[in-house]
Amino acid sequence: MTERTLDKVEMEKVVSLCKRRGFIFPSSEIYGGLGSFWDYGPLGVELKRNVREAWWRAMVQERDDVVGLDAAILMHPQTWVASGHVEGFTDPLVECKACHQRWRDDMVPDGVCPACGGEITEPRMFNLMFKTFVGPVEREAAVVYLRPETAQGIFVNFANVLNSTRSKLPFGIAQTGKAFRNEITPGNFIFRTREFEQMEMEFFVKPGSDEEWFQYWVNERFEWYAGLGIRRDNLRLRQHAPDELAHYARGCYDVEYLFPMGWSELGVIANRGDFDLGQHARSSGQNLTSFDEESGEHIVPYVIEPSAGVDRSLLAFLVDAYDEEPDKNGTRTVLHFHPALAPIKVAVLPLSRNEKLAPLSREVYAGVRKEFRTQFDDAQSIGRRYRRQDEIGTPLSVTVDFQSLEDNMVTIRERDSMKQIRVPIPTLNVILSAKLGREPMEVLPEGGIYWAGFE
Ligand code: GAP
Repeated sequence: MTERTLDKVEMEKVVSLCKRRGFIFPSSEIYGGLGSFWDYGPLGVELKRNVREAWWRAMVQERDDVVGLDAAILMHPQTWVASGHVEGFTDPLVECKACHQRWRDDMVPDGVCPACGGEITEPRMFNLMFKTFVGPVEREAAVVYLRPETAQGIFVNFANVLNSTRSKLPFGIAQTGKAFRNEITPGNFIFRTREFEQMEMEFFVKPGSDEEWFQYWVNERFEWYAGLGIRRDNLRLRQHAPDELAHYARGCYDVEYLFPMGWSELGVIANRGDFDLGQHARSSGQNLTSFDEESGEHIVPYVIEPSAGVDRSLLAFLVDAYDEEPDKNGTRTVLHFHPALAPIKVAVLPLSRNEKLAPLSREVYAGVRKEFRTQFDDAQSIGRRYRRQDEIGTPLSVTVDFQSLEDNMVTIRERDSMKQIRVPIPTLNVILSAKLGREPMEVLPEGGIYWAGFE
């Protein structure tokens, strides 16, 4: 674990770095942006992919009891009637009679507009689902909803997956994908937006074993964040009180992170009981049961659901990785990403642009990029280039210098310790691999650091 210099990270600093270095931009910015929609730039898209892949690896690839799914975003509208979203996916909304700004009711406890002090209206219920139309005619019968959660795509495919994989309880179905909510109060950068991506898994268990599996998944999800480098002091679990449980939930825990605006929900683990399969079975008339060999009966499984946002997780990884360290030139801004998440794994940096170094530098770059997401940079001083890589969280830099032409060796510099070691070019990829945590420890030369168990 790398110590940090900064006690607290301001959100503005993270937003500014994201814009400056090409992680995240305001959506359609040339037209003034669109409220709380964001676009991921060249580094952001890599980081996002790494977050999603780390989740898929833990939830699907490394398990025997979970399979994947990729359902359509638009689903039969009856889905959202059965799930309770048409009736209940609402927030109480109030409007200022003077400036017409709208607020969620709980944001105006003293009954006056927080913006202008004007009088506010009585609350009315506002459904958070975005509507659109299928086909050329905009009529009520053609209304469909942009899914507000990916979970329902899994429930409506329960029988398809069961029959095609011959899975037995307990087993899970995982999917990642976009979800949409017309949030009344989006904000805090990518924390709460109207278009976001979820990573959800529905784990189907025998009724009676649900409490044990619930505790299991609460622990697994907490450890996933810690294993990817989030400091444990910045993570905590919060159990929902009975009066705040969602309509489908028998029990619920939030994994919370200490974001710049305070402790907030990062992910959630819910015991959904048999609510969803029961509702869809009744609503569709289909059999959504699993045969239990022990009792010889068909049962409606209970569901444990670990759910998390890709964007929100990415924000936590960014905030937790961010640091500013004093150094001889002022300040070193560095993202201490876990190597599994770092958008660029290795930078190849020739000491200078001298043409004598170019052929070997290009050759080293060609060899490294075959195995790792690599960036080549030969512009400006080597010190500035190290700083540029630190700022985007590249764990390792490889420097090719004039000595390399003589001894066929290069220097590896570590982002966190800034230690440098010299290694023979033919062993470079094996050593980089070990340092990025992909190979066993033994191959590491003296003084190396390593991260366990990730690609
Ligand atoms: N299927 C359960 C479900 O959707 P949720 O607590 O509403 O539960 C799960 O959402 C996760 O999705 C949240 O913990 C959060 O990480 C992410 N999420 C929800 N709404 C979001 C929003 N408006 N913007 C970004 N992420 C959001």
